[in-house]
Amino acid sequence: MGEATPAPEALRPLVVRTRTELRTALATAPRPIGLVPTMGALHEGHASLIRRARAESATVVATIFVNPRQFNETADFEEYARDEAADLTTAREAGADIVFIPTVEEVYPAGSQTTVRVGALTEALEGAARPGHFEGVTTVVAILLCLAGAERAYFGQKDAQQLLVVRRMALDLGIATEIVACPIVREPDGLAMSSRNVRLTPEQRAAAPVLRASLLAARAAYEAGERDGEALRTAIRGVLAAEPLAAPEYVSCADPATLRELARVDGPALLSLAVRFGSIRLIDNDPLP
Ligand code: PAF
Repeated sequence: MGEATPAPEALRPLVVRTRTELRTALATAPRPIGLVPTMGALHEGHASLIRRARAESATVVATIFVNPRQFNETADFEEYARDEAADLTTAREAGADIVFIPTVEEVYPAGSQTTVRVGALTEALEGAARPGHFEGVTTVVAILLCLAGAERAYFGQKDAQQLLVVRRMALDLGIATEIVACPIVREPDGLAMSSRNVRLTPEQRAAAPVLRASLLAARAAYEAGERDGEALRTAIRGVLAAEPLAAPEYVSCADPATLRELARVDGPALLSLAVRFGSIRLIDNDPLP
């Protein structure tokens, strides 16, 4: 009897750890390629990105890399959840063919001197609150986009500013990969899925849906005819103020293309916020209308 041929399912996903292994795997991979960049700690939000890529691509590549350059707080980087075995199970079940898990040295080769910086779009909101964050994001995403040469790359709408910044970068640098925005995935109580949610204490976790509740209060005011930007921000702040565990970092009602704060909402707007629960920082957003 000849050797048993493993079922293709048992071989998936192929784990590659170096640039060369990734390039070799992709050289013969059927196209189009869909890329899902992640920092691991995969949850249902990531799974939805991988499933979307699966539906639209012949080859799905997920990347898992906790990018030190985008953390402006050492503790946040060190405490960021890491569980490769669980991530590979999630990636396989969602449909990834290849998972790229590089080391820091593989992503940033010895002597690395290149950073990618996007301008004004990175200065508000997350950029203002987390100095250096977006430079780290755009640098690593540019590297991943160059390495994968994918037709499409998938990003969650939860990081709305990241999505705008990555789109801008791809346009400015002539990167041909289409940047695809995917909807926020929420827990049943409305909390947006995030790898940081697992670090909340039970009390903080119980309080965290206040982010969504505050955005819904502003949406309700908008739907009742409120068009004053500050009144909408005040509606968000009012709900947050009632939750003692929540320490708001910023509350925004901004132009969704420029991220400049709006005095009046006469067209589309992006409501967004960042709130701390102890040392854990959560973000959420809601595009109007
Ligand atoms: O959204 C994330 O998880 C990260 O910012 C990304 C896009 C994977 C870059 O490290």
